[in-house]
Amino acid sequence: MTRYIAKKKRAETSAAPSADVNWDAEAATFDEEPDHGLHDPVVREAWAARLEAWLPSRPGDLLDLGCGTGSLSLLAAERGYRVTGVDLSPPMVALARAKSAGHDAVFHVGDAAAPPVGEQLFDVVLVRHVLWTLPDPGRVLRHWQGLLRPGGRLVLVEGVWGTVSPVGIPAERLTDLLAPLARDVRVERLSGDARLWGKEVADERYAVVAVV
Ligand SMILES: C[S@@+](CC[C@H](N)C(=O)[O-])C[C@H]1O[C@@H](n2cnc3c(N)ncnc32)[C@H](O)[C@@H]1O
Repeated sequence: MTRYIAKKKRAETSAAPSADVNWDAEAATFDEEPDHGLHDPVVREAWAARLEAWLPSRPGDLLDLGCGTGSLSLLAAERGYRVTGVDLSPPMVALARAKSAGHDAVFHVGDAAAPPVGEQLFDVVLVRHVLWTLPDPGRVLRHWQGLLRPGGRLVLVEGVWGTVSPVGIPAERLTDLLAPLARDVRVERLSGDARLWGKEVADERYAVVAVV
């Protein structure tokens, strides 16, 4: 994440706020970060174990928004979930499709804030490291809540990166936004688990599981 944060900060302080991270250009090397590609078996197992704990024990329909190269989509599909992934970047979607070939997983190019899934409802909406980039997170969360079946859940992995001028969403702000939308909201702190990131980290990283 760190190099994208640096780029986003540069974009925010430039005269051209639209000069955001170019995810199309990042796609080819995206999986080089340990927590992106999950190539290291220790990192992969750490994410698989967390997902196991966050997802309902009975697999159902899972929507992975801003799925990137589809590493978490694949972990979910391997657990038996029927996965739909959505990402704005066609190269990211192409990589996600290739990675999950042979699994029950489909991928669409589209906006996470208004995913192109028609009337379909899901048991889980999974979003890692995307909500913080979207304008008006409160509105987006309400939309995602509407994509869930009764008793469904949002699994949101977010954080606040950097110490000098941090960017991201603090867990407290996210839980405040979720309070009116969910009947149960649980925060799990992830900064202390170096296996997830392939290194020690000091900034705020967490997951929220919100059952509606
Ligand atoms: C930091 S990456 C996270 C990828 C993936 N969720 C993961 O954890 O490996 C952010 C992803 O969000 C996608 N993205 C950014 N804004 C988006 C939007 N409005 N709708 C859909 N995807 C978006 C980017 O193309 C990129 O693949």
